[in-house]
Amino acid sequence: MKSRVLSGVQPSGNLHIGNYLGALSNWVKIQYDYESIFCIVDLHAITVYQNPDELRAKIRELAALFLACGIDPKHSKIVVQSTVQAHSELAWLLTCVTPMGWLERMTQFKAKSAAQESVGDGLFQYPVLMAADILLYQAGIVPVGEDQMQHLELARDIAQRFNSLYGDTFVMPATKLPAVGARVMGFDDPTAKMSKSAAGSGHAVALLDPPDRIRKTIMRATTDSNPAVDFETMGPGVQNLLTVYQAFAEWSNDQMQAHFAGMRYGDLKKQVAEMVVSKLEPIQQRYQEIVAEPGYLDGIIRQGAEAVTPIANSTVELVKLRMGIYTAA
Ligand code: TRP
Repeated sequence: MKSRVLSGVQPSGNLHIGNYLGALSNWVKIQYDYESIFCIVDLHAITVYQNPDELRAKIRELAALFLACGIDPKHSKIVVQSTVQAHSELAWLLTCVTPMGWLERMTQFKAKSAAQESVGDGLFQYPVLMAADILLYQAGIVPVGEDQMQHLELARDIAQRFNSLYGDTFVMPATKLPAVGARVMGFDDPTAKMSKSAAGSGHAVALLDPPDRIRKTIMRATTDSNPAVDFETMGPGVQNLLTVYQAFAEWSNDQMQAHFAGMRYGDLKKQVAEMVVSKLEPIQQRYQEIVAEPGYLDGIIRQGAEAVTPIANSTVELVKLRMGIYTAA
C-alpha cells in the first residue's frame, strides 16, 4: 500500500507564490507516489473571527486553486474539513488525553493570543484539531513548513499518549521531511517568510493577482545598495528575487550565474516579474474555467468527502471502542 500524505491549508488570506513554490507545486509533483489528502481546514480558520461570506468564498477559491495548480482529483482527495464530521469528533476525543500544559507551550498560540483582546478556546485547541486531521487518516507523511513543526510534534505526542493509555491505535506521523521547495520571503521585507495573513501591498504576489499588480509588487521589491547582481555579496532581497526566478524556471545554479551575474537590478526585476506572470497565467486561466463550470467544484468537494469519510469513521469507531464510550453491542 502506498503511504498516505496529508496536509492542510487554512482558507484565509490569499494563496501566494511562496505557498506555491514551497508546498503546492511539490504536492502536485509527488501526488502519484502516495495516497494524498489535501485538506481545506475551515474549522481551523474560525479559531479567529472570519467574516462568514468571505470565509465561504475563500473555501471555494482555495479548492479551485488546488485544482488549477494541478492537484488531480481523480487521484488525490481534496477535502473540506467541515464536510467530514469525524474531524470534530476525534478532536474532542483527543482533547481528553491532551494535557493543557502541552498546549500552553505552543508558540503559535502564544503569538496569536497575544494579539487578541479575548482569546477563544478554539485557538487553544487548534493543535488538537490538527492532530485529529492527521491521526484520523493514519497519515504517515505530513508535509508542513517549519512554523508547523511544533504542532506536528504535538500530534505525535498525543498519538503516543493515546497509544500508551489505550493500546496501539495510531500510526506515528513522520516529522522528518525531505527538504524540498523554495523558501520565498516577503518582497517588502526579505528577512521574513512570505505570509498569507501579512499580505499588505508589496509583500506577496498572490496566485490570482493580475499581471500589472504582479509587476508592480516585484518592481518595488526591496534590494540592497549594490547596483547589480553580485553572487558573492548580494543581500537577502536580491537573493529572494533570484530564488523565485530559479524555482519557476527550474534552472541550475550555473545557469542562474551565467544569466544573472552583473545584471542591473531594474532588469533583474523585470525578468523575475515576466517569469512570474508567465507561470501564473495558465494557473489563472484554469482557475477561471473551473469556477465558470456550474457544479464542478461542489462535485469535487463532495467526492473528496465521500472518499475519505469511511476511513475517518472507522478511526473514530476504533478510538471510541478503545476508550470505552458507548458503541452498539
Ligand atoms: N495548521 C496548519 C497551518 O496553518 C494547517 C493544518 C491544519 C494542517 N490541519 C493540518 C497542516 C494537518 C498539516 C496537516 O499551516
